[in-house]
Amino acid sequence: MDEAVIISITQLQRKHVATVIELAANSPELRTGNGNAAFFWEPSTLIKWSESELGVLLVASKQHDEVVGAIICGYNPISRDAYIHAIMVIPKHRAVGIGSQLIARAEETVAMRGCNHIFALVHPSNESSINLFKRTGYDRGNMFFYYEKTLKAIQRSDDL
Ligand SMILES: CC(C)(COP(=O)(O)OP(=O)(O)OC[C@H]1O[C@@H](n2cnc3c(N)ncnc32)[C@H](O)[C@@H]1OP(=O)(O)O)[C@@H](O)C(=O)NCCC(=O)NCCS
Repeated sequence: MDEAVIISITQLQRKHVATVIELAANSPELRTGNGNAAFFWEPSTLIKWSESELGVLLVASKQHDEVVGAIICGYNPISRDAYIHAIMVIPKHRAVGIGSQLIARAEETVAMRGCNHIFALVHPSNESSINLFKRTGYDRGNMFFYYEKTLKAIQRSDDL
């Protein structure tokens, strides 16, 4: 294995958002298979989430702030569970350890907030992702179907 590429991993900021959204749009592996909910988050949601204790949104960058990958992780401090919503690396920068570094940093960040369990969903055909999670110490559980439903949000008074 070559020596891992030197990258910096930082919290997602406004300047990264467009590239992260583009990266997600170009990652068919992230799609759930349900057309009606094939959405990614709005720029403002990503920024708000990144600045909250309920999220660990990190970007991997090379020199000159070139974004090469990202991880989007939600954290629930009550259940102490973290969920990896998405991890993605630009195709030409794959297989040099960036995905592994993103996972390691996200785990470290949630662990420092008290998290004791982290999980992810991976399509059974997604070999690179299966290998990534296996190599970084994740145990594989059962296969499930993805069920979802879009709800009409009701604005809470404290959101106004
Ligand atoms: C899954 C994904 C994030 C992996 O990212 P990555 O940066 O390529 O991951 P890594 O480089 O850490 O590991 C990939 C491979 O590179 C190898 N590798 C890791 N470090 C290396 C290094 N320093 N030198 C050479 N090879 C290395 C690993 O052994 C691994 O090989 P394997 O797949 O045969 O086990 C990437 O393939 C991707 O973006 N896929 C599309 C989106 C996706 O599927 N996301 C997951 C669903 S949420």
